[in-house]
Amino acid sequence: MEKTVKSAVYPGTFDPMTNGHVSLILRGLDIFDEILVAVALHSPKNPLFTLDERVEMAREIFDGKDRIKVEPFEGLLVEYVKERKAVAILRGMRAVADFEYEFQMALMNRRLDRNIHTVFLMTEYKWLYISSTIIKDVARLGGEIKGLVPPNVEKRLYARYGHQPKDKIS
Ligand code: PNS
Repeated sequence: MEKTVKSAVYPGTFDPMTNGHVSLILRGLDIFDEILVAVALHSPKNPLFTLDERVEMAREIFDGKDRIKVEPFEGLLVEYVKERKAVAILRGMRAVADFEYEFQMALMNRRLDRNIHTVFLMTEYKWLYISSTIIKDVARLGGEIKGLVPPNVEKRLYARYGHQPKDKIS
């Protein structure tokens, strides 16, 4: 009998991808056979990086990992999940602050398609306090972000802001 591949879609703006995202994707592989990282064109956020840049950075991070695929997507997430025949949407939950937004999205997606389930993983404690937004803010103001994002992302962020960190962390 042919074995079916259980894929989950991990959607987001990824502007840019942080170590919190990376950790969640790798943990997702303990549950699913394949993770499809879906980089959204349409997001309520106003991204610093273009869709192509966000996809390229994510692809560099997972280069050589054949169970992780990075793709851009536009339009409704549930449509993309159906097209890819994925079994679930994977999302990370950092703390209480994320709950309302995540709950809203999960319920709306379920209303749009009752067969699509959202699976949440709690973010690893090391990454609880970071977000793409806070990382961009620190990098923009010349702070050190080493260890919080993959090296290619760190390089791109400082290049985008036209400077290097002012001080190394103590
Ligand atoms: O992690 P993010 O950046 O907050 O992700 C938000 C994202 C991309 C998952 C969400 O905005 C989305 O699904 N956009 C696609 C359009 C869509 O389907 N919207 C309705 C979902 S409630």
